[in-house]
Amino acid sequence: MEKIYPVILVLAGLILVYILWCLCEPFFLDLDKTVLKRSSRGRSSDSEIAIKKLPMTSKGTQETPDLRFFFFSDIHAEWCPVTSKRLCKAIRKAHAEGGLDAVLFGGDIVTSPGNAPKGYKYLSNISACCKELGLPFYGISGNHDCRLENAPEASGFSSIDNKVIHLTSRKSSEKISLAGISDTGRKNRVWQQMPPCDGSEPVILLVHDPDAFIHLEPSGRPDFMLSGHLHGGQMKFPFKIEFTVLRKTDKLPNMGAVQGTYDISGTTVFISRGLGCGILPFRFLSLPEATVVEIVL
Ligand SMILES: [Fe+2]
Repeated sequence: MEKIYPVILVLAGLILVYILWCLCEPFFLDLDKTVLKRSSRGRSSDSEIAIKKLPMTSKGTQETPDLRFFFFSDIHAEWCPVTSKRLCKAIRKAHAEGGLDAVLFGGDIVTSPGNAPKGYKYLSNISACCKELGLPFYGISGNHDCRLENAPEASGFSSIDNKVIHLTSRKSSEKISLAGISDTGRKNRVWQQMPPCDGSEPVILLVHDPDAFIHLEPSGRPDFMLSGHLHGGQMKFPFKIEFTVLRKTDKLPNMGAVQGTYDISGTTVFISRGLGCGILPFRFLSLPEATVVEIVL
């Protein structure tokens, strides 16, 4: 019996270290970069979804992009140890290094509507930073935002929910459509189509939940898509049970697209791990993330 005590002690120590790590990980911030190139396969009109993982670009890769964004998502301001001050610093750094065309927010301001003022304050700070740098700040709603009123006005970003705006390539005079889709919330969700785009322009779609892709008409799929929502699983477990059991209704992650860059049926997709924590203030092997996204046509 006495022989089992050291084993119990080691196990208790490991559990303690695990819990401490899960509490500490939300304080880290992974500032990464990805270059999204148009798929060589071309947009597929096949209703079958084919997913291919693509590498994130190494920090040293230099190629003049057509557009350069700073993208962040899922702040869930109740528990977001990555402060707006740190994020502003990252935006300034990215702008100083290669210029930015816009700052993009992928939705989910807070988990609970009662905490909305905290989220608005966070985004207002980002908005002030963008104004100072002369950068447009666009955003869309996440599934937790559908119960908030006047969120874009209170937060200081321009909503592109179900809208299209036109940007100009910095390499040529080519126009590029940036489209947004709103999120109607998890309960009684309505999957929406992209707002009508000019068919002659490449299309970048900003949508909170990447599963929206599955519900798009194959002929109406974008060239690029930026999403969040999945938090990279937030807590990684063996056998991916964070998705196979806990989030089994989420289709794309259960098909293999969880975080990072993918070619999904001819659309180049980036899925962010987001910044904050959804329900519990824990993360494990899924660092908070903000990303410089370079678009190359
Ligand atoms: Fe979220």
